[in-house]
Amino acid sequence: MECKKNAPIGVFDSGVGGLTVVREIIRQLPNENIVYFGDTARVPYGSKSQNTIIRFSEQIIRFLQTKQVKAIVIACNTASALALESVRDEFEVPILGVVVPGAKAAVEATVNGKVGVVGTEATVQSGMYTKVIQRMNSEIQVLEKACPLFVPLIEEGFKEHHVTQEIIDFYLDSMKKTDIDTMILGCTHYPLLRSKIRTYMGEQIQIVNPAYETAMNLRNLLKEKDMVNDGTGEEVSQYQFFVSDAAEKFRRFANTVVPFDVPETNVVNIEEY
Ligand code: DGL
Repeated sequence: MECKKNAPIGVFDSGVGGLTVVREIIRQLPNENIVYFGDTARVPYGSKSQNTIIRFSEQIIRFLQTKQVKAIVIACNTASALALESVRDEFEVPILGVVVPGAKAAVEATVNGKVGVVGTEATVQSGMYTKVIQRMNSEIQVLEKACPLFVPLIEEGFKEHHVTQEIIDFYLDSMKKTDIDTMILGCTHYPLLRSKIRTYMGEQIQIVNPAYETAMNLRNLLKEKDMVNDGTGEEVSQYQFFVSDAAEKFRRFANTVVPFDVPETNVVNIEEY
């Protein structure tokens, strides 16, 4: 199948979290077109079972394929941890996740070999970060902590609310008392709380946002497959956004995360895919 260089990259998440990955893809690959899908009707994924997360991911990938995407980035740790392996076997389009890039960045960053991971319940229960990190370096100790209330707080725009600060204290207290020197934000929503988490944990902890390494992986993949958009092809509309519900709320939020005016966002009945 001939793949057009100006075909878009598909990116998806359960909601607004994946926009933190979009932001990084745009920085590293400014010529690429992007189709984003946020599953706002079914967020959060972090409290759901693996079968459900696989089914949701399959539906979204089928939808993104109708947009002729040349590659897909699962900009969601939960779906990367629980569904990536299975959808990679099932679909031909190249699919990247965020867990391996995040793990790699942490392995490179840690000096004392003690890494903390914060993520959703499902991601932490899967133990995927521990497995991937220890596959890269079996000496590294990994401490994982689920922070299930972060996602709804972020989706509700509660970033500056005092309740959010209390929840940060509550979840991160035990991690702060350990001697980790590196902490992975193992949920793509969490970089939206980065400054608060950074202040709470202190300057001595290196905070890893897997988005940077993920965008680098994407760039390498596109180069390898000779699919990089050099910007000389025919015009397509650069960034398109789709959600499964509450499009206007999503658009307003997205405008606070990405460095451009988010165009009209369309609702898709994702259960049809
Ligand atoms: N942002 C997603 C993640 O990286 C999902 C959060 C959720 O829906 O629970 O895990």
